[in-house]
Amino acid sequence: MEPRSHGVSTWSRTCRRWDGLSSGWLASSARTSPRAWRGKQTSGGGKVKADRGVRPHDLSRRAFLGATIAGVVAAACSGKDGASDGGTSSSSVPLEVPGVDVEGDLFALGVASGDPTADSVILWTRLAPDPMNGGGMPDEVVKVVWEVSTDEAFSGLVATGAVDALPELAHSVHVDASGLQPATGYYYRFRVGEAVSPVGRTRTFPAADSSPERLRFAMASCQNYQDGYFSAYRHMLDEDIEFVLFLGDYIYEYGPDQVESLFRIRDHAGGEAVTLDDYRLRYAQYRGEQELREAHARVPWLTIWDDHEVENNYEGDVSEEDVSEEEFRQRRAAAYQAYYEHMPMRIDDTESFEEVHTYRAAPYGDLVDIVLLDVKQFGDPPECRDSSLFDFGPLCDEALDEQRTLLGTEQEAWLEEALLSSESQWNLIVQQILMSGFKAPDPAGGEPRFYLESWDGYPAARQRLAQFLVDEDIRNPVILSGDYHASFVADLKPDPYDPESPVAAPEFLVTSISAAVFDEDYTSANPQVKYFDPRNGYVVCQVTPDEFTTTFRYVSDVTDPAAELVEGPTWSVAAGERSARQE
Ligand SMILES: [Fe+2]
Repeated sequence: MEPRSHGVSTWSRTCRRWDGLSSGWLASSARTSPRAWRGKQTSGGGKVKADRGVRPHDLSRRAFLGATIAGVVAAACSGKDGASDGGTSSSSVPLEVPGVDVEGDLFALGVASGDPTADSVILWTRLAPDPMNGGGMPDEVVKVVWEVSTDEAFSGLVATGAVDALPELAHSVHVDASGLQPATGYYYRFRVGEAVSPVGRTRTFPAADSSPERLRFAMASCQNYQDGYFSAYRHMLDEDIEFVLFLGDYIYEYGPDQVESLFRIRDHAGGEAVTLDDYRLRYAQYRGEQELREAHARVPWLTIWDDHEVENNYEGDVSEEDVSEEEFRQRRAAAYQAYYEHMPMRIDDTESFEEVHTYRAAPYGDLVDIVLLDVKQFGDPPECRDSSLFDFGPLCDEALDEQRTLLGTEQEAWLEEALLSSESQWNLIVQQILMSGFKAPDPAGGEPRFYLESWDGYPAARQRLAQFLVDEDIRNPVILSGDYHASFVADLKPDPYDPESPVAAPEFLVTSISAAVFDEDYTSANPQVKYFDPRNGYVVCQVTPDEFTTTFRYVSDVTDPAAELVEGPTWSVAAGERSARQE
């Protein structure tokens, strides 16, 4: 199969057509990596990788190996009278549910919304009355009614319809509720027979030709169930935010005994996630957390995946383990499918889960253009790997190859075009990993060490992007990142370690919700890093035409489900400037 174009994402025959920069979403895809954990790797039962050597990398995307799911996605999307045209009646929808006890909690995993545009939003649920035991649904198609209203009592429906929940997709439902008004709050819910879901709240983005005066949103990443509670979300929901931007590591694939963390307070169900059923079980366990379900139900989410949604430190086709690329691609496809099944996101129905086009653009009036990237699916594999959990070591010559890419050539070109064509005041470049660099001096006086799967392992790719921002004078770029399990404010430069290198953009990196933090502080060797704080929490960002502001928030104790909020500092960058300052 020819490599597909990432320039246009066609949602489906019956759903809306997404044409990227002009109207909304383009697709792409993701990664993580534990670093200097607070804790240690186990020796006996721990995750000790085989020495794999350098693996040849096939840049040509091979033909998809698995069965396409295009048809089933199209069916789930179209519904009969539904998802694409809004406002139609659901009175003719059959309510009987074969083999299902509708008295049970079909909606135990909650509801969610995501990827809002000016006139639509994705509404999500998954029918799973027994989520920790395969879902508990029969192998049958089940009709699900959805409703959107401007009031919580649903006295005035503005859109409704019905969609099929398919067993092939774990009875997940993704409704593209369209025909909505811009910058408007809505309530939504689902019904199957007499069973009614919790009510969710969502909001559309402002019209493309509008001029919003303000946007506030929260950023989060890295929620390891084993390492702590998700109490950060409880505090996040007290904030005045319009959406959650989740930057990856929504789940961790590890089995309970794979890695040892200082703060391991509970165990993952099952072993290491490898199969589709494994990944489904992991998402079910995470969504069992009330705070997480509530956060999804209260505001829309924009999500990207990182490595742990598949496997620690994978890149492209290449596992961190010594397995064939074909075998790994099957695992990756299972992981991508489970991710889709549990996220309120759009994907292109012409794709199988062998590849999923999730990189996309989200314009917010003329205030902000958000681009969401994928540094995991299309990149060259890390070089100079050290066969440890962290891929942490000195750079080798292979990593310095100027042709190496982290985004892949198509996504890199797409990003440049998106930035060149943007007419917004701010350009938020949302991606998974620290871009500004963080080298670790060698205590023995040797070569500095780097996390080789971060942008530090791809210096030419970082140089290209940062220099592009400088040379093209891209308007107010801001880099937003996650993955590191500590907070950062930094200056992105084409060469982070050259004092003469110009500042291309400020970078704000959000710490982990609950994953064990990395507390080794190398800031003295990294003047481009202006703030570093290894505590668990989240951030709140505020954007106005004049300023981009990030406020860091922390939880008092990630092992305490009643953890209190701890205020962190506020950093901001003024329009026209490239470097942030603490307020
Ligand atoms: Fe992480």
